[in-house]
Amino acid sequence: MGLNLKNPIIIASSGLTNSVEKIKDLEKAGAGAIVLKSIFEEQINNEVNNQINRVPQHKFPEEEDFTWNYTRNNLITSHLNLLSEAKKETEIPIIASISCMSASEWVVFAKDLENAGADALELNLFFVPIDPHKTSEEIEQLYLRIVSKVRKNVKIPVSVKIGFYFSNLIAMADRLTTSGADALVLFNRFYEPDINLEKLELTTSEVFSAPEDIRQSMRWIGLISSQIPNVQIAAGTGIQDGNSIIKQLLVGAQATQICSSVYINGAQVIAGMINDLTAFMKKWHFKKIDDFRGRLSYKNITNPAIYERAQFMKYYEGR
Ligand SMILES: Cc1cc2nc3c(=O)[nH]c(=O)nc-3n(C[C@H](O)[C@H](O)[C@H](O)COP(=O)(O)O)c2cc1C
Repeated sequence: MGLNLKNPIIIASSGLTNSVEKIKDLEKAGAGAIVLKSIFEEQINNEVNNQINRVPQHKFPEEEDFTWNYTRNNLITSHLNLLSEAKKETEIPIIASISCMSASEWVVFAKDLENAGADALELNLFFVPIDPHKTSEEIEQLYLRIVSKVRKNVKIPVSVKIGFYFSNLIAMADRLTTSGADALVLFNRFYEPDINLEKLELTTSEVFSAPEDIRQSMRWIGLISSQIPNVQIAAGTGIQDGNSIIKQLLVGAQATQICSSVYINGAQVIAGMINDLTAFMKKWHFKKIDDFRGRLSYKNITNPAIYERAQFMKYYEGR
Protein backbone atom coordinates (compact mmCIF):
# COMPACT_ATOMS: atom_id res chain seq x y z
CA MET A 1 0.00 0.00 0.00
CA GLY A 2 3.04 2.21 -0.08
CA LEU A 3 3.10 2.59 3.71
CA ASN A 4 6.45 2.46 5.42
CA LEU A 5 6.19 0.14 8.44
CA LYS A 6 9.08 -0.35 10.86
CA ASN A 7 7.82 -3.89 11.46
CA PRO A 8 4.96 -5.99 10.07
CA ILE A 9 2.75 -5.76 13.19
CA ILE A 10 -0.40 -3.69 12.78
CA ILE A 11 -2.88 -3.24 15.61
CA ALA A 12 -6.27 -4.30 14.22
CA SER A 13 -9.33 -2.10 14.40
CA SER A 14 -10.95 -2.54 17.82
CA GLY A 15 -11.48 -0.90 21.20
CA LEU A 16 -7.68 -0.98 21.53
CA THR A 17 -7.46 1.87 19.05
CA ASN A 18 -10.37 4.11 20.05
CA SER A 19 -8.41 6.79 21.95
CA VAL A 20 -5.28 8.81 21.35
CA GLU A 21 -3.77 7.68 24.67
CA LYS A 22 -4.16 4.00 23.81
CA ILE A 23 -2.73 4.60 20.34
CA LYS A 24 0.32 6.39 21.77
CA ASP A 25 0.91 3.49 24.18
CA LEU A 26 0.70 0.99 21.32
CA GLU A 27 3.22 3.01 19.31
CA LYS A 28 5.53 3.09 22.34
CA ALA A 29 5.15 -0.69 22.70
CA GLY A 30 6.43 -1.12 19.13
CA ALA A 31 3.38 -1.32 16.85
CA GLY A 32 4.21 -0.84 13.17
CA ALA A 33 0.86 0.79 12.35
CA ILE A 34 -2.62 1.26 13.79
CA VAL A 35 -6.08 0.71 12.37
CA LEU A 36 -8.56 2.93 14.17
CA LYS A 37 -11.72 1.51 15.69
CA SER A 38 -14.22 1.37 12.84
CA ILE A 39 -16.94 3.85 12.44
CA PHE A 40 -19.97 1.66 11.78
CA GLU A 41 -22.74 2.60 9.41
CA GLU A 42 -25.10 0.66 11.70
CA GLN A 43 -23.87 2.55 14.76
CA ILE A 44 -24.61 5.88 13.13
CA ASN A 45 -28.01 4.74 11.91
CA ASN A 46 -28.93 3.34 15.36
CA GLU A 47 -27.79 6.45 17.18
CA VAL A 48 -29.74 8.67 14.83
CA ASN A 49 -32.89 6.53 15.20
CA ASN A 50 -32.53 6.58 19.02
CA GLN A 51 -32.35 10.36 18.96
CA ILE A 52 -35.38 10.59 16.70
CA ASN A 53 -37.40 8.18 18.89
CA ARG A 54 -36.41 10.04 22.07
CA VAL A 55 -38.36 13.02 20.77
CA PRO A 56 -41.45 11.37 19.26
CA GLN A 57 -43.51 14.53 18.87
CA HIS A 58 -41.72 15.98 15.87
CA LYS A 59 -44.09 18.51 14.38
CA PHE A 60 -42.27 19.04 11.14
CA PRO A 61 -40.35 16.64 8.94
CA GLU A 62 -37.49 19.20 9.00
CA GLU A 63 -37.03 18.51 12.74
CA GLU A 64 -36.33 14.87 11.98
CA ASP A 65 -33.88 15.87 9.26
CA PHE A 66 -32.17 18.19 11.71
CA THR A 67 -31.83 15.43 14.36
CA TRP A 68 -30.51 13.07 11.71
CA ASN A 69 -27.87 15.49 10.47
CA TYR A 70 -26.90 16.71 13.93
CA THR A 71 -26.42 13.23 15.41
CA ARG A 72 -24.63 11.89 12.39
CA ASN A 73 -22.33 14.89 12.19
CA ASN A 74 -21.52 14.65 15.90
CA LEU A 75 -20.47 11.01 15.62
CA ILE A 76 -18.50 11.66 12.49
CA THR A 77 -16.80 14.72 13.97
CA SER A 78 -15.62 12.84 17.06
CA HIS A 79 -14.20 10.13 14.82
CA LEU A 80 -12.42 12.68 12.63
CA ASN A 81 -11.02 14.35 15.76
CA LEU A 82 -9.64 11.03 16.98
CA LEU A 83 -7.94 10.56 13.64
CA SER A 84 -6.39 14.02 13.39
CA GLU A 85 -5.24 13.93 17.05
CA ALA A 86 -3.70 10.48 16.56
CA LYS A 87 -1.89 11.77 13.48
CA LYS A 88 -0.54 14.74 15.41
CA GLU A 89 0.66 12.68 18.39
CA THR A 90 2.24 9.70 16.63
CA GLU A 91 4.64 8.91 13.80
CA ILE A 92 3.45 5.50 12.68
CA PRO A 93 0.87 5.12 9.89
CA ILE A 94 -2.72 5.56 11.05
CA ILE A 95 -5.29 3.70 9.01
CA ALA A 96 -8.91 4.79 9.33
CA SER A 97 -11.64 2.17 9.21
CA ILE A 98 -15.22 2.27 8.00
CA SER A 99 -17.65 -0.57 8.40
CA CYS A 100 -20.07 -0.20 5.51
CA MET A 101 -23.31 -2.01 4.86
CA SER A 102 -24.24 -0.18 1.69
CA ALA A 103 -22.70 1.85 -1.08
CA SER A 104 -24.58 4.91 0.17
CA GLU A 105 -23.46 8.28 1.49
CA TRP A 106 -21.01 6.67 3.96
CA VAL A 107 -18.80 6.11 1.02
CA VAL A 108 -18.46 9.89 0.73
CA PHE A 109 -17.31 9.97 4.36
CA ALA A 110 -14.12 8.29 3.15
CA LYS A 111 -13.09 11.66 1.68
CA ASP A 112 -13.44 13.33 5.12
CA LEU A 113 -11.12 10.69 6.60
CA GLU A 114 -8.59 11.36 3.88
CA ASN A 115 -8.79 15.10 4.54
CA ALA A 116 -8.33 14.52 8.29
CA GLY A 117 -4.95 12.91 7.54
CA ALA A 118 -5.56 9.15 7.33
CA ASP A 119 -2.59 7.39 5.77
CA ALA A 120 -4.90 4.75 4.37
CA LEU A 121 -8.44 3.51 4.69
CA GLU A 122 -9.63 0.04 5.64
CA LEU A 123 -13.14 -1.03 4.65
CA ASN A 124 -14.62 -3.62 6.93
CA LEU A 125 -17.19 -5.44 4.81
CA PHE A 126 -19.49 -8.25 5.84
CA PHE A 127 -23.11 -8.94 5.21
CA VAL A 128 -24.91 -11.97 6.61
CA PRO A 129 -26.98 -13.17 3.67
CA ILE A 130 -30.41 -14.12 4.95
CA ASP A 131 -32.49 -13.62 1.83
CA PRO A 132 -32.97 -16.99 0.06
CA HIS A 133 -33.69 -15.20 -3.22
CA LYS A 134 -30.50 -13.21 -3.38
CA THR A 135 -27.78 -14.74 -5.52
CA SER A 136 -24.14 -14.86 -4.52
CA GLU A 137 -23.38 -12.64 -7.52
CA GLU A 138 -25.72 -9.92 -6.17
CA ILE A 139 -24.02 -10.06 -2.77
CA GLU A 140 -20.56 -9.95 -4.29
CA GLN A 141 -21.59 -7.00 -6.44
CA LEU A 142 -22.43 -5.08 -3.27
CA TYR A 143 -18.87 -5.54 -2.01
CA LEU A 144 -17.45 -4.50 -5.37
CA ARG A 145 -19.73 -1.44 -5.66
CA ILE A 146 -18.62 -0.16 -2.25
CA VAL A 147 -14.95 -0.68 -3.06
CA SER A 148 -15.07 1.03 -6.44
CA LYS A 149 -17.16 3.94 -5.08
CA VAL A 150 -14.70 4.54 -2.23
CA ARG A 151 -11.77 4.15 -4.60
CA LYS A 152 -13.20 6.91 -6.79
CA ASN A 153 -13.61 9.21 -3.77
CA VAL A 154 -10.12 9.05 -2.25
CA LYS A 155 -6.49 9.10 -3.30
CA ILE A 156 -5.08 7.33 -0.23
CA PRO A 157 -4.60 3.53 -0.35
CA VAL A 158 -7.69 1.46 0.40
CA SER A 159 -7.65 -2.00 1.95
CA VAL A 160 -10.62 -4.32 2.23
CA LYS A 161 -11.15 -6.54 5.25
CA ILE A 162 -13.36 -9.52 4.58
CA GLY A 163 -14.36 -12.88 5.97
CA PHE A 164 -13.88 -16.21 4.23
CA TYR A 165 -17.48 -17.00 3.28
CA PHE A 166 -17.19 -16.84 -0.50
CA SER A 167 -17.61 -19.67 -3.01
CA ASN A 168 -14.39 -18.74 -4.76
CA LEU A 169 -12.22 -16.61 -2.54
CA ILE A 170 -9.43 -16.30 -5.08
CA ALA A 171 -11.80 -14.94 -7.72
CA MET A 172 -13.34 -12.59 -5.16
CA ALA A 173 -9.91 -11.35 -4.08
CA ASP A 174 -9.12 -10.71 -7.74
CA ARG A 175 -12.37 -8.81 -8.31
CA LEU A 176 -11.84 -6.72 -5.16
CA THR A 177 -8.37 -5.85 -6.36
CA THR A 178 -9.52 -4.87 -9.84
CA SER A 179 -12.35 -2.82 -8.26
CA GLY A 180 -9.72 -0.71 -6.51
CA ALA A 181 -8.58 -2.47 -3.32
CA ASP A 182 -4.86 -1.82 -2.83
CA ALA A 183 -4.67 -4.56 -0.23
CA LEU A 184 -6.78 -7.21 1.46
CA VAL A 185 -7.07 -8.05 5.14
CA LEU A 186 -7.67 -11.80 5.49
CA PHE A 187 -9.64 -12.38 7.59
CA ASN A 188 -11.94 -10.53 9.91
CA ARG A 189 -13.37 -12.42 12.86
CA PHE A 190 -17.07 -12.06 13.56
CA TYR A 191 -19.43 -12.33 16.47
CA GLU A 192 -20.69 -15.87 16.48
CA PRO A 193 -23.72 -17.25 18.27
CA ASP A 194 -23.71 -19.70 21.15
CA ILE A 195 -26.46 -21.09 23.37
CA ASN A 196 -26.75 -20.78 27.13
CA LEU A 197 -28.37 -24.10 28.06
CA GLU A 198 -29.07 -22.93 31.64
CA LYS A 199 -31.26 -20.12 30.40
CA LEU A 200 -32.20 -21.67 27.05
CA GLU A 201 -31.10 -18.48 25.40
CA LEU A 202 -29.08 -17.55 22.36
CA THR A 203 -25.95 -15.64 23.34
CA THR A 204 -22.71 -14.58 21.70
CA SER A 205 -19.65 -16.77 21.92
CA GLU A 206 -16.07 -15.91 22.90
CA VAL A 207 -14.99 -12.75 21.10
CA PHE A 208 -11.28 -13.48 21.25
CA SER A 209 -9.57 -15.74 18.77
CA ALA A 210 -7.38 -18.75 19.56
CA PRO A 211 -3.89 -19.44 18.10
CA GLU A 212 -5.20 -22.27 15.88
CA ASP A 213 -7.44 -19.74 14.10
CA ILE A 214 -4.47 -18.69 11.90
CA ARG A 215 -4.86 -21.80 9.75
CA GLN A 216 -7.82 -20.54 7.76
CA SER A 217 -5.96 -17.40 6.67
CA MET A 218 -2.65 -19.26 6.14
CA ARG A 219 -4.25 -21.49 3.52
CA TRP A 220 -5.94 -18.64 1.69
CA ILE A 221 -3.00 -16.23 1.86
CA GLY A 222 -0.76 -18.98 0.46
CA LEU A 223 -3.21 -19.50 -2.41
CA ILE A 224 -4.26 -15.91 -3.12
CA SER A 225 -0.72 -14.48 -2.97
CA SER A 226 0.26 -17.10 -5.57
CA GLN A 227 -2.72 -16.84 -7.90
CA ILE A 228 -3.18 -13.07 -8.04
CA PRO A 229 -0.17 -11.09 -9.19
CA ASN A 230 0.93 -8.19 -6.98
CA VAL A 231 -1.84 -8.62 -4.41
CA GLN A 232 -0.96 -7.26 -0.97
CA ILE A 233 -2.32 -9.01 2.07
CA ALA A 234 -2.38 -8.34 5.78
CA ALA A 235 -3.02 -11.54 7.69
CA GLY A 236 -5.48 -11.37 10.56
CA THR A 237 -7.16 -13.58 13.17
CA GLY A 238 -5.44 -15.87 15.62
CA ILE A 239 -2.00 -14.24 15.52
CA GLN A 240 -0.89 -14.48 19.12
CA ASP A 241 2.89 -14.94 18.95
CA GLY A 242 5.95 -14.31 16.82
CA ASN A 243 5.79 -17.74 15.20
CA SER A 244 2.36 -17.09 13.73
CA ILE A 245 3.63 -13.83 12.26
CA ILE A 246 6.56 -15.70 10.68
CA LYS A 247 4.17 -18.33 9.26
CA GLN A 248 1.91 -15.71 7.70
CA LEU A 249 4.88 -13.96 6.08
CA LEU A 250 6.16 -17.33 4.80
CA VAL A 251 2.86 -18.00 3.01
CA GLY A 252 2.98 -14.56 1.39
CA ALA A 253 1.49 -11.89 3.70
CA GLN A 254 2.91 -8.37 3.58
CA ALA A 255 1.97 -7.62 7.16
CA THR A 256 -0.07 -8.96 10.05
CA GLN A 257 -2.83 -7.56 12.25
CA ILE A 258 -3.23 -8.41 15.91
CA CYS A 259 -6.06 -7.76 18.32
CA SER A 260 -7.03 -10.57 20.77
CA SER A 261 -3.45 -11.14 21.90
CA VAL A 262 -3.13 -7.48 22.92
CA TYR A 263 -6.47 -7.60 24.74
CA ILE A 264 -5.41 -10.78 26.56
CA ASN A 265 -1.72 -10.08 27.29
CA GLY A 266 -1.31 -6.32 26.95
CA ALA A 267 0.80 -4.29 24.53
CA GLN A 268 4.04 -5.94 25.71
CA VAL A 269 3.24 -8.90 23.41
CA ILE A 270 4.45 -6.74 20.53
CA ALA A 271 8.06 -6.68 21.80
CA GLY A 272 8.00 -10.48 22.27
CA MET A 273 6.73 -10.92 18.70
CA ILE A 274 9.44 -8.66 17.29
CA ASN A 275 12.09 -10.60 19.25
CA ASP A 276 10.80 -13.92 17.86
CA LEU A 277 10.82 -12.55 14.32
CA THR A 278 14.34 -11.14 14.73
CA ALA A 279 15.64 -14.41 16.19
CA PHE A 280 14.08 -16.37 13.31
CA MET A 281 15.68 -14.10 10.72
CA LYS A 282 19.05 -14.37 12.43
CA LYS A 283 18.83 -18.16 12.60
CA TRP A 284 18.10 -18.46 8.88
CA HIS A 285 20.42 -15.60 7.85
CA PHE A 286 17.61 -13.52 6.37
CA LYS A 287 18.51 -9.84 6.11
CA LYS A 288 15.06 -8.57 5.27
CA ILE A 289 11.51 -9.91 5.24
CA ASP A 290 11.50 -10.09 1.44
CA ASP A 291 14.24 -12.76 1.74
CA PHE A 292 11.62 -15.22 3.01
CA ARG A 293 8.21 -13.70 2.27
CA GLY A 294 6.10 -16.15 0.29
CA ARG A 295 8.77 -18.88 0.39
CA LEU A 296 6.10 -21.41 1.38
CA SER A 297 3.23 -20.06 -0.68
CA TYR A 298 1.25 -22.29 -3.03
CA LYS A 299 3.38 -21.47 -6.06
CA ASN A 300 6.72 -21.82 -4.29
CA ILE A 301 6.50 -25.29 -2.74
CA THR A 302 7.11 -28.65 -4.35
CA ASN A 303 3.94 -30.24 -2.99
CA PRO A 304 1.26 -27.55 -3.35
CA ALA A 305 -1.48 -30.19 -3.05
CA ILE A 306 -1.27 -29.67 0.72
CA TYR A 307 -3.00 -26.33 0.19
CA GLU A 308 -5.77 -27.92 -1.86
CA ARG A 309 -6.44 -30.93 0.30
CA ALA A 310 -9.58 -30.42 2.31
CA GLN A 311 -10.62 -33.96 3.25
CA PHE A 312 -8.99 -36.29 5.74
CA MET A 313 -8.99 -39.18 3.24
CA LYS A 314 -5.51 -40.57 3.98
CA TYR A 315 -5.67 -39.75 7.67
CA TYR A 316 -8.68 -41.98 8.24
CA GLU A 317 -7.36 -44.90 6.14
CA GLY A 318 -5.11 -46.21 8.87
CA ARG A 319 -7.48 -45.54 11.78
C1 LIG B 1 -13.52 -6.26 21.08
C2 LIG B 1 -13.27 -6.26 19.61
C3 LIG B 1 -13.69 -5.16 18.84
C4 LIG B 1 -13.49 -5.16 17.45
N1 LIG B 1 -13.90 -4.09 16.71
C5 LIG B 1 -13.66 -4.08 15.36
C6 LIG B 1 -13.99 -2.96 14.56
O1 LIG B 1 -14.49 -1.94 15.03
N2 LIG B 1 -13.73 -3.03 13.23
C7 LIG B 1 -13.15 -4.11 12.64
O2 LIG B 1 -12.92 -4.11 11.42
N3 LIG B 1 -12.83 -5.20 13.38
C8 LIG B 1 -13.06 -5.20 14.71
N4 LIG B 1 -12.70 -6.29 15.46
C9 LIG B 1 -12.03 -7.42 14.79
C10 LIG B 1 -10.50 -7.27 14.92
O3 LIG B 1 -10.05 -6.12 14.24
C11 LIG B 1 -9.76 -8.47 14.34
O4 LIG B 1 -10.00 -8.52 12.94
C12 LIG B 1 -10.24 -9.78 14.94
O5 LIG B 1 -10.35 -9.68 16.35
C13 LIG B 1 -9.27 -10.91 14.59
O6 LIG B 1 -7.97 -10.64 15.06
P1 LIG B 1 -7.41 -11.36 16.40
O7 LIG B 1 -7.52 -12.81 16.19
O8 LIG B 1 -5.99 -10.86 16.53
O9 LIG B 1 -8.28 -10.89 17.51
C14 LIG B 1 -12.87 -6.29 16.85
C15 LIG B 1 -12.46 -7.36 17.64
C16 LIG B 1 -12.64 -7.37 18.99
C17 LIG B 1 -12.19 -8.54 19.81
